[in-house]
Amino acid sequence: MRRPLRIGLIGLGVVGAEVARLLLVEQKTLSAQAGRPLEIVAYSTRDPHKQRGVDLSKLPWVASPAELAAREDIDILVELMGGADGPALEAAEVALKARKHLVTANKAMLAKHWAHLFALSKKHHAAIMFEASVCAGIPVVKVLREGLAGNRISRISGILNGTCNYILSAMAERGIEFADALKEAQNLGYAEADPTLDIDGWDTAHKLIVLAKLGFDPAITLEQIPVKGIRDITLADVQAAKVAGKAIRLVASAEKKADGTYAMEVAPKVLDAAHPLAPVSGPMNAITIDAQPVQSCTLIGPGAGAGPTASAVLADIIDLARFDILLEGPLYLPR
Ligand code: NDP
Ligand code: HSE
Repeated sequence: MRRPLRIGLIGLGVVGAEVARLLLVEQKTLSAQAGRPLEIVAYSTRDPHKQRGVDLSKLPWVASPAELAAREDIDILVELMGGADGPALEAAEVALKARKHLVTANKAMLAKHWAHLFALSKKHHAAIMFEASVCAGIPVVKVLREGLAGNRISRISGILNGTCNYILSAMAERGIEFADALKEAQNLGYAEADPTLDIDGWDTAHKLIVLAKLGFDPAITLEQIPVKGIRDITLADVQAAKVAGKAIRLVASAEKKADGTYAMEVAPKVLDAAHPLAPVSGPMNAITIDAQPVQSCTLIGPGAGAGPTASAVLADIIDLARFDILLEGPLYLPR
């Protein structure tokens, strides 16, 4: 077997703790999949003493994420801390400059600093892997980057936020108030550390930007998307839609128009029961990609939560373990 892939892990919250747990408990199976052992060698969190359902106490704890990223004994940095700027960005920069591949679930950081981070990736020949950044358990990044690489994409649309979909479904199906549904989503680990990112539509916009950059043009920016969230939707609105045989969903869409410009939007929509997105319920997400020659392709799956997000992070780690030796440039190449 090849030498171990040595992992530096930042964040042991909802996602990070589950990734660490699986890397320990499923070590044999995952290493067999990867073709080499996968080893966490050091980690960073704010609080080294918090109980997390996973015991990394025998490994070095590093207070500073950037210091962890710079360690010579790691091959890849797995950033599961969050935040568009600050320590997450600093650690990502340090890792890429030191030619360490980066795995991240941080769509806020990617949406804001894509050009900067991919310039570093290109310059230093270090890959950025970000399957977990969009729709957690749905492998949509792989589908756009690899499965549909030979297609001309015309439209990407769907439900991209588990928290909002959970809230809207809970209000419709169980008649509970917005604030109570949001609390449930937070307790289940679906919401962002700052849940206003979810309910005001920004998390959806961050994901739409990542998809639009992948599917259309890396130069597309967040400022091009009008964003409206679900904050003002009341139980009465949701119940009235239900009585009319409809469902309210937070829908994201990006379309390439005939003149080569893009029409993009994040907004709540009242959908007929027959609409394919209407039955997508709870933390589930759905994405439809219209493209030629494939025509249309829809992916549905869990869009938030520890297990589904860990699934995506592990896929990226395994990809790097398998192909690291072949990498001569960034694994992601823009269209
Ligand atoms: P959590 O808030 O549960 O966990 C964040 C972790 O980062 C905690 O362990 C925290 O440490 C650590 N952390 C925060 N600041 C620092 C710092 N300055 N130095 C070191 N460690 C720090 O977040 P999630 O696990 O929910 O999310 C992590 C990332 O994954 C985010 O980018 C999020 O957007 C993304 N994501 C989340 C999904 C989900 O369903 N939750 C789905 C897809 C993506 P401590 O525990 O000590 O406070
Ligand atoms: N807060 C996000 C959501 C996590 O609810 O969809 C998954 O990206």
